[in-house]
Amino acid sequence: MPQIIDGKAISAKVRAEVAEQTAALKQRGITPGLAVIIVGDDPASRVYVNNKKKACAEVGFYSEEHALPATTTQDELLALIKCLNARSDINGILCQLPLPKGLDDKAVIESIAPIKDVDAFHASNVGRIMLGEYSFLPCTPAGVMELIHSTGIEVSGKECVVIGRSNIVGKPMAMLLLHENGTVTICHSRTRDLAEVTRRADILVAAVGKAKFVTPDMVKEGAVVIDVGMNRDENGKLCGDVDFDAVAPKCSAITPVPGGVGPMTIAMLMRNTLTAALLQNGLE
Ligand code: GUN
Repeated sequence: MPQIIDGKAISAKVRAEVAEQTAALKQRGITPGLAVIIVGDDPASRVYVNNKKKACAEVGFYSEEHALPATTTQDELLALIKCLNARSDINGILCQLPLPKGLDDKAVIESIAPIKDVDAFHASNVGRIMLGEYSFLPCTPAGVMELIHSTGIEVSGKECVVIGRSNIVGKPMAMLLLHENGTVTICHSRTRDLAEVTRRADILVAAVGKAKFVTPDMVKEGAVVIDVGMNRDENGKLCGDVDFDAVAPKCSAITPVPGGVGPMTIAMLMRNTLTAALLQNGLE
């Protein structure tokens, strides 16, 4: 039987560590603060934002939500970010993506002060990740690394295959595996003979966004399989990018959906916000 990697438990541990460090920081008169911006009424974004606010309260952060109507203009949004950039009680700024049509995701991300960019989406933070000199890691790939570490597998020298090349997950994921000396391949929609490539993986990370896309013929016996997907199957049930029931018997370890990568993303956001508060107070 494979090890089922318990993202909920590992996330709780990370959040408990953040809470402990936050309590110590508060003794010194510093409370980490996170501003979350949500524009429009996308239901999935609303759930994510609520979860982020709840996690902030649990670890002892100050948080504030800026819920703006879908009719908000680019100038209004940039003016809000400018104001948050200047506030010393706000250490992290997160603008929930995707933004409604008419707003420019890229310009908005670039307007966030890099030191407050707890998503690590700003070009300067992305560049730092390439160089291996970063303060913030993008939350989902950082969470995946924690899950991989929890299995005890050594990344160094392993064949690592990432399916998906998004800026948020696939590309930074590949970099983090490379920093730990994995031999990394990124697959995407133009990859020829995908199964032949993925079958080489000792560590396989699926970030495709297609329900049950990874099937047993694509997986090597004994692989560690990490599923970043969050999809609905034909019955409307939550499922990942991996056909879990069929693939699990071949793996040494695998993440479930839900309860795998999902809870880690928010835990890493909490860690980044704490780091931002430390950095901005000259403590790191
Ligand atoms: N939308 C989906 N995932 C994310 C994320 O990690 N950060 C932000 N800001 N928006 C998202």
